[in-house]
Amino acid sequence: MISYKTLLDNRRSIRDFKPDKVDQTLLEEILNETCMAPSASNAQPWRFIIIQDRALIERLSAESKKNLLDTIKKDQNSQFKRYERILSSPNTNVFYNAPCLVLFCGKNDYSFFASDFALAVAYFMFAATARNLGTCWIGLGDKIKDPKLKNEIGLPENYEIAAAVILGSPAKIPDTVPRKPPVILKTIA
Ligand SMILES: Cc1cc2nc3c(=O)[nH]c(=O)nc-3n(C[C@H](O)[C@H](O)[C@H](O)COP(=O)(O)O)c2cc1C
Repeated sequence: MISYKTLLDNRRSIRDFKPDKVDQTLLEEILNETCMAPSASNAQPWRFIIIQDRALIERLSAESKKNLLDTIKKDQNSQFKRYERILSSPNTNVFYNAPCLVLFCGKNDYSFFASDFALAVAYFMFAATARNLGTCWIGLGDKIKDPKLKNEIGLPENYEIAAAVILGSPAKIPDTVPRKPPVILKTIA
């Protein structure tokens, strides 16, 4: 059994994958552990869409890129402006050609939507890391608006994509990204 410390040390964003699809049993184990995440009022709001079809993943990348570029065009102060060049390149696949894309989705009709989903993604990442699989949250990949595409991936009408996370066997494991030490504003004893 992998130690907690090793798990923390080993998790990092993976952006280069082997082409192999993710085994269904492993995927189910990971999702079972994901669902152990805490959630406000124990709502457990997460639903999952699993896509292991590379062509469809590429179309989702193209759709998200298009919508992000539209946003930037309308608002030059957009937080996404800094990604304009990379998003404009036809060669960019925001999902890094990963073999598997997991969309975390649910109804965004309560205050703790973002927090509940962020925790679920963290559990997902650690569950995947424990099985030597790599993940990366792709914030640039969840801007899916096209109703036909939404229908094709099986996203219900009133559901939102809370997070798009890629999964697969790492082809290359990068060094960890350095962290700043904790900033304690005040300790009150
Ligand atoms: C909400 C969120 C959105 C992210 N979106 C992207 C993304 O679109 N593309 C990407 O390559 N990495 C993305 N990342 C990964 C971060 O860049 C990464 O977590 C950070 O640089 C720290 O590196 P580490 O995960 O290896 O520790 C995202 C991470 C989070 C938490």
